Amino acid sequence: MRKKIIAGNWKMNANPTEATALAKRLIEAGVESDYADVVFCVPAIDIPAVVGAVKGTGVAVGGQNVHFKPSGAYTGEISADMLTDAGARYVIIGHSERRQYFGETDETVNLRLAAALAGGLIPIVCVGESLGQRERGVTIELVRSQVKTAFGGVSAEDAAKTIIAYEPIWAIGTGRVATAEQAQDVCAAIRTVIGELYGSGVADSVRVQYGGSVARDNAAELFGQPDIDGGLVGGASLKEDFVNITNYKARKG
Ligand code: PGA
Repeated sequence: MRKKIIAGNWKMNANPTEATALAKRLIEAGVESDYADVVFCVPAIDIPAVVGAVKGTGVAVGGQNVHFKPSGAYTGEISADMLTDAGARYVIIGHSERRQYFGETDETVNLRLAAALAGGLIPIVCVGESLGQRERGVTIELVRSQVKTAFGGVSAEDAAKTIIAYEPIWAIGTGRVATAEQAQDVCAAIRTVIGELYGSGVADSVRVQYGGSVARDNAAELFGQPDIDGGLVGGASLKEDFVNITNYKARKG
């Protein structure tokens, strides 16, 4: 049985002072879950503060990007070692906002994935189609190709540890959530391609999240699908209501 994993993607929100307060409020409101791993993926500068705020709880902390080299002349970038030393255990890679605004490609996602794994981080690799691609009927083909390129050179052992987030771009921050059926179909296709690359053992153990306008009212249906192992949650992870997403089976309020 795969344990669910629900990660908040705080994006570029909250300075270290605000991040500490938000993390504490979420903990006090009961964000921990009996049936899901809970992660806060926060701006890099907030990592030490949030690691301190969640200390002693089951909540883990993640970054939102990682560079592919261990160190060197890469102004503005952050290495896997820097993230782990600051207390991060997870890292988001290839979010569509990185692809759209910062020139991230499937090839750089592949390099970052290798660096994250080599550095001992648990990667959350994002894939997903635009509205135009969905309307053209190329979603499955595109997502399969994103996964294949991202996982080039990754061993089966490492692939099994990696989390994949299916995030249709048209559903991110729009309030327009994919139907449970649409999300399930693509998450199942992702598991199929992992099976083709690594065999059924890895396909059965890899966790596939859905992301894009996840909210308290749609979480239970989405996370109840056989191939959806939790979610990557943006806007709703910045509010106390996030506890009702991490505890989607029995809401707290
Ligand atoms: P959203 O963002 O939940 O605000 O749609 C999801 C994401 O970008 O990871």
